[in-house]
Amino acid sequence: MTGIAAQKKGCIFNLDGVIVDTSRYHYVAWKRLCNQLGFDFTPEQHEKLRGLSRMASLEQLLEWGNIYMTEAEKLHWSDVKNNWYVEMISDLKPGDVLPGAILFLRQVREAGLKVALASASRSARQVLNTTRLDAYFDAIIDGNSTRKAIPDPECYLLAARALGLEPFECFIFEDSDLGVLAGVAGGFFVIGVGDPDYLSKAHMVIPGFENLSYTDLLTRITANMYSHT
Ligand code: G1P
Repeated sequence: MTGIAAQKKGCIFNLDGVIVDTSRYHYVAWKRLCNQLGFDFTPEQHEKLRGLSRMASLEQLLEWGNIYMTEAEKLHWSDVKNNWYVEMISDLKPGDVLPGAILFLRQVREAGLKVALASASRSARQVLNTTRLDAYFDAIIDGNSTRKAIPDPECYLLAARALGLEPFECFIFEDSDLGVLAGVAGGFFVIGVGDPDYLSKAHMVIPGFENLSYTDLLTRITANMYSHT
């Protein structure tokens, strides 16, 4: 084993939109809330909420909608959105796991890497339970365990520490541009998952895990490195 394969001992995965197709439920719930408050919410705007905490997401929406709310009103409406979201994810099935994600999780574990989840969502554990993914993770850092939101790298640093690893020993798989920036700032090798136009600061970008083996990934990273020298 040489180079990057020998150096990396852990993988840290974001959840919504990376492992499980739950981003669309966040979108539907936030859109319903915006519409109820009298303004619209687009998929492009939703891209900017990825990785933000529930309250930070609401505050961003209120800024776009030009609406003032007291702290008590913010708590009320963020609860309303969350109740809609939790209702939608109450019957998630293993089939809601994104294509190739389980196989990829298995492969990194078989390769001897440790695996953590780092998500801003406070419902992350429920999503992992319902989709029966818990067993793949050695550590779970969610919106209940963090104090600083991205672009602060706190959630990833906590995840690496929970695995007993240093940032340079871990890959991060992340679908939000702020999450990518946070991972890079924390000293991790960050793999963007999704559209390269939104993830230009990642060390590399993959469209998803479908048809991607861990060995393929290492080969692509090595090829990328040599193409920049
Ligand atoms: C929160 C936010 C949501 C954001 C998500 C990231 O989830 O509400 O906008 O996209 O984290 O995964 P919540 O704690 O509300 O489940």
